[in-house]
Amino acid sequence: MDKLKIFAPATVANVSCAFDILGFALDTVGDEMTFTKTTEKLVQITLPENSNLPTDPLKNVAGVVAIEMLKKANADFGVLIEIDKRIKPGSGIGSSAASSAGAAYGVNRLLGDIYDNAELVQFAMLGEALASGVAHADNVAPAIFGGFALVRSYSPLEVIKLNSPNELFCTVIHPQIEVKTEKSRKILKKNILLKDAVEQWGNIAGLISGLYSEDYDLIGRSLQDKIVEPVRSLFIPLFYDVKKSFMDAGALGGGISGSGPSVFALSRGEKQAEKVAEAMRKVYSQTNIDFDIHVSAINSVGIKEI
Ligand code: HSE
Repeated sequence: MDKLKIFAPATVANVSCAFDILGFALDTVGDEMTFTKTTEKLVQITLPENSNLPTDPLKNVAGVVAIEMLKKANADFGVLIEIDKRIKPGSGIGSSAASSAGAAYGVNRLLGDIYDNAELVQFAMLGEALASGVAHADNVAPAIFGGFALVRSYSPLEVIKLNSPNELFCTVIHPQIEVKTEKSRKILKKNILLKDAVEQWGNIAGLISGLYSEDYDLIGRSLQDKIVEPVRSLFIPLFYDVKKSFMDAGALGGGISGSGPSVFALSRGEKQAEKVAEAMRKVYSQTNIDFDIHVSAINSVGIKEI
């Protein structure tokens, strides 16, 4: 294979209670990336003209992933990566992860599929480390594996793909203020109370159990976050109003998407997710903050060749 084009999905990390260990992929939002083999042993990046992201491969998340993969494989070719960036950077729906995971997938195809999904996650984490200073995997894992992906362990890395109930839909609102993951990690408390940890463990276990038993109400009840949301919500204008609006509109539950500022809600059925979108829209329409809203099924396959 000398050339391919892919869709690299946006992802919602943390899923309220599961900071750094759980995420899911979306179907309707993502970047498109084209990979072309070159005879020059170089990695080259192109981006849309209006993008502020770096094209220097050493400073670009897709670039660092590709360089490392080609080096490790001792490849005798280079790669041109054309990124059609559709996920806004700093949106909280895995913008850097889509480029990193997309690069891992695309370069692996050009190499003849020599790496497995777990290895692709490990390479993609290099991009996350460049973007936020921390190699978290809860966006890149669902982008690569699809569906809900659990990072059971970081050392050694173990990713488990979970069941995704097929009536589950996600609504995401992205208020257009930029929140850098690096900054929103620095403000988190380093220690937590045991009683908060106990509650959080209960919710994580409840969420996983709900995903397998397809118990939508249990999934909803488990979307609680005692640890991260109280701190990060300070960066998100009208966070608690949006939350009240989606619960009143019939969502199962929700919270901050990744490190924010996007806010997500899960619903049973697409119609319900559209209702939630309407409720969220009403809240932000009262402000002068621009916003985007996406309604999406859970993307069960992750990156797709298009
Ligand atoms: N788990 C990461 C964080 C996700 O919350 O910082 C960032 O998208």
